[in-house]
Amino acid sequence: MAETKGRPGNPFAMENSAISEILGKWKNKQSPLLMTLHEIQKNRGYISRESTLEISEALDIPLARIYEVLTFNNYFKLSPPGDVVISVCTGTACHLKGSGQLLKKLEKVLGIHIGETTSDGRFHLQYVRCIGCCSLAPALVINGKVYSKVDPLQIKQILAEWQGEARESVDEL
Ligand code: FES
Repeated sequence: MAETKGRPGNPFAMENSAISEILGKWKNKQSPLLMTLHEIQKNRGYISRESTLEISEALDIPLARIYEVLTFNNYFKLSPPGDVVISVCTGTACHLKGSGQLLKKLEKVLGIHIGETTSDGRFHLQYVRCIGCCSLAPALVINGKVYSKVDPLQIKQILAEWQGEARESVDEL
């Protein structure tokens, strides 16, 4: 079944044939469903409806079971995450150092809630549990780049780095 390609510039863009390759790689291994889902999520950034149908057929696993796994674990996303994925650490150290304020500021500036993507598909906001740099709390990660000891006042400046062609909308905020 055909996969929809990611948007241009999306770091999670994945070739159409890649899903089949991943399925072939894990089909006869231990825990093929989880391994396949993890690899698709890692490469594409989310698990599409088309992917679940293809997995169900290839691994002979009921669709309901696949969605049970997907919805149990909030690591898996069911829709495109946006070109720029902002992960705010809400682990204990970051929580104590104010990650809640960072989240609130990001939600206000971007006009979305946690788990949502801006309407232009540019930014996706999510939380993660401890990224392993607790002494630098509060921390956030944007497309793999770690920002440490972040102050809410720095949020607009940080977002401007990632705004690209839509930069004007951040400048107006
Ligand atoms: S709690 Fe945030 S990096 Fe560990």
